[in-house]
Amino acid sequence: MSFSAVDVIRAKRDGLTLSDAQIDWVIDAYTRGVVADEQMSALAMAIFFNGMTPAETARWTQAMISSGERLSLQVSRPTVDKHSTGGVGDKITLPLAPLVAACGAAVPQLSGRGLGHTGGTLDKLESIPGWRAALSTSEILSQLSSVGAVVCAATEGLAPADRKLYALRDVTGTVEAIPLIASSIMSKKIAEGAESLVLDVKVGSGAFMKDLASARALAEALVAIGVEHGVRVSALLTDMSVPLGRAVGNAVEVAESVDVLRGGGPSDVVELTVALAAEMLSLAGILADPGAVLASGEAYEVWARMIRAQGGDPDAPLPVAAHRHVVEAPASGILSTLDAYGVGVAAWRLGAGRARKEDPVQAGAGVMCLAKPGDVVEAGQPLLELFTDTPDAVEGALQALEGAYSVSDDEVERSPLVIDTIRG
Ligand code: URA
Repeated sequence: MSFSAVDVIRAKRDGLTLSDAQIDWVIDAYTRGVVADEQMSALAMAIFFNGMTPAETARWTQAMISSGERLSLQVSRPTVDKHSTGGVGDKITLPLAPLVAACGAAVPQLSGRGLGHTGGTLDKLESIPGWRAALSTSEILSQLSSVGAVVCAATEGLAPADRKLYALRDVTGTVEAIPLIASSIMSKKIAEGAESLVLDVKVGSGAFMKDLASARALAEALVAIGVEHGVRVSALLTDMSVPLGRAVGNAVEVAESVDVLRGGGPSDVVELTVALAAEMLSLAGILADPGAVLASGEAYEVWARMIRAQGGDPDAPLPVAAHRHVVEAPASGILSTLDAYGVGVAAWRLGAGRARKEDPVQAGAGVMCLAKPGDVVEAGQPLLELFTDTPDAVEGALQALEGAYSVSDDEVERSPLVIDTIRG
């Protein structure tokens, strides 16, 4: 069936509900280039203002899944995946995928690169000498069977409609619409084919969703789409008002993840890794204690196999930036704030992230948070360490950090890391 793009745009502009046939047609026609970018931007803006019903969102997701291939993960273990909506210092995929594999699941983690102030998992892993992000579908399946965990780039054939639409939304001010975000994330994750999925929906200054009400609405929309498509799904709402762990960047986050896999590392990274692993294992029907498996070193063994399987050398020294700059505590007292967004922008400006898709990133760039909120600090003590290969970038990073930290005499009350869990 064929429609007029203008009629579909007018219908959504006027607050009507789109029919299944209209949604199927508009996604397919846009993917084929029959609906023009300017028409899709108008429709995305109409959706931004008038929303979509849960049924429209589910159909929109299905249409985007149908625009490409859906992986069939024929492996003997239960398959379970995790998706994070993105945050500062969010390296959790790195320890989590091998941990959950070490507990007996198969974890296909098809990931992206960073854009803006939140880092990308592939950029982090690419700081490991030799490591390769691009795998074919048969390599993904073979590694899932042999190692149990794969972290690699999403193949071109997965949800091509979303790839085109997301790039358009990025330049038309239409990213921040819950039905569009939810359908974008879930179309890729469902096309990836895992039986179970845990979503880490971040809330706070360093996240997409700055307040709890919108993060909860996104989590509910994501879970509803998963349920509609027969995927076992849960969402954890987690705090992203301060950076996760101490390291923010690429190689520095890999090093911190390895510390966690070796039984050490910052307590918040360990806590979130274990909480997400427990939820993934519960959905996958596997009885295991992820905290004990992490402490036993078995997850580190899977990590080393996973890195080697993709050409990387887990024992090779990681790149170190050429230039280092220390930010000192302005006064003695208790570090009361360390704003995730400010630290994320600083790391990005130092060269850890990119402004455009095609920009390179620096493996060694980033920020180490030497103190976290609640820590007692002395005036002049190093608070943050900035790393870059381009010393000219330090000034911009320091500007991003202005007002991002404060020291006071008062005790700090922090919200819990895992705020809530929404189950499908
Ligand atoms: N991540 C996605 O994959 N899609 C969105 O729309 C937003 C974040």
